[in-house]
Amino acid sequence: MDEKLKQIKEELTKKFEQVKNMQELNDLKVAYQGKKGIITELAAGIKDVAAEHKKEFGMQMNELKNEFNEKFETAKAKFEEQRILAKLKEDTIDVSLPSDKIQMGSKHPFNRIIEEVEDLFVSMGYDVVDGPELEDDEHCFRLLNYYVGHPARDAQDTFYIDEEYLLRTQTSSAQSRIMQANKEKSPIRVICPGKTYRRDDDATHSHQFGQVEGLVIDKDISLADLKGTLEIFAKRLLGDDTKVRFRPSYFPFTTPSCEVDVSCFKCGGKGCSLCKGTGWIELLGAGMVHPNVLRMGGYDPDKFTGFAFGTGLDRLAMFRYNIPDIRLIYGNDIRFLKQFDEAE
Ligand code: PHE
Repeated sequence: MDEKLKQIKEELTKKFEQVKNMQELNDLKVAYQGKKGIITELAAGIKDVAAEHKKEFGMQMNELKNEFNEKFETAKAKFEEQRILAKLKEDTIDVSLPSDKIQMGSKHPFNRIIEEVEDLFVSMGYDVVDGPELEDDEHCFRLLNYYVGHPARDAQDTFYIDEEYLLRTQTSSAQSRIMQANKEKSPIRVICPGKTYRRDDDATHSHQFGQVEGLVIDKDISLADLKGTLEIFAKRLLGDDTKVRFRPSYFPFTTPSCEVDVSCFKCGGKGCSLCKGTGWIELLGAGMVHPNVLRMGGYDPDKFTGFAFGTGLDRLAMFRYNIPDIRLIYGNDIRFLKQFDEAE
């Protein structure tokens, strides 16, 4: 028996040395300690051992089992450590690798032009105000002297929500709101940039576009103030050489009304495809606030005068950043927007 035990022990030591992985270790356990395992069967032989030797036999078996278990646990711990080390190696982060390039966004030309215009007017003492895009007929039209049935309403291609509500067709709706909110306080010196909507869609018109409205009300405001302000605006935005001309025009809420052209910044006024050979480009609409509008807004036209102007932000952006098609501004094509990266 002693001989047999010795042989098994030697064999075990060798086998444990040869085991290469957890799978083989588990196989070894089955081979020795499984139901039909070598140790199990050896231990079962106790029934044939003479009574006086049973105790001794039992002790030897326990010793053998303990030795096996010890070796098993040691090998298991070794494989577990190897597994963890291999996993750690696999997961190592190489901090010297170059990182993925982060795609930075760029300022949208629409926001960019708004910021430029805001900066310009804020530097002249104006406030920037906001107005609702979902407007009512009263503020977009009635308080601006477009009585119901006024032919100029047709020119606006309005998106009506219902009989009362509409998408504002012009930021001029801010005029009536500002006057109502100020209740004869003066001076008023504000601009209101924002989105506007009309049923229009081609290379130079989009159903959604942007406008900026300007409104000044005070005592003794004259057409000369309007002229001077818009001349500064045009020169600061488009360059000091820009020439400005005023043409008579019509808007229901201003009188007299005018349209303002600037000398073509592409050809300098000689005539080119951009200015269609005229040397001039239309920039904005403007005029002195109509007495009816002042009155409806709560300002006594005998005491107060004012001027207003409005221009398309998309148009300004197209001129300023050389954009050939208005639809590019709303397409959000990343290749287009990328060209407006912060670096100039
Ligand atoms: N709201 C006018 C338009 O959309 C422009 C304008 C604004 C004209 C203010 C005069 C004064 O055409």
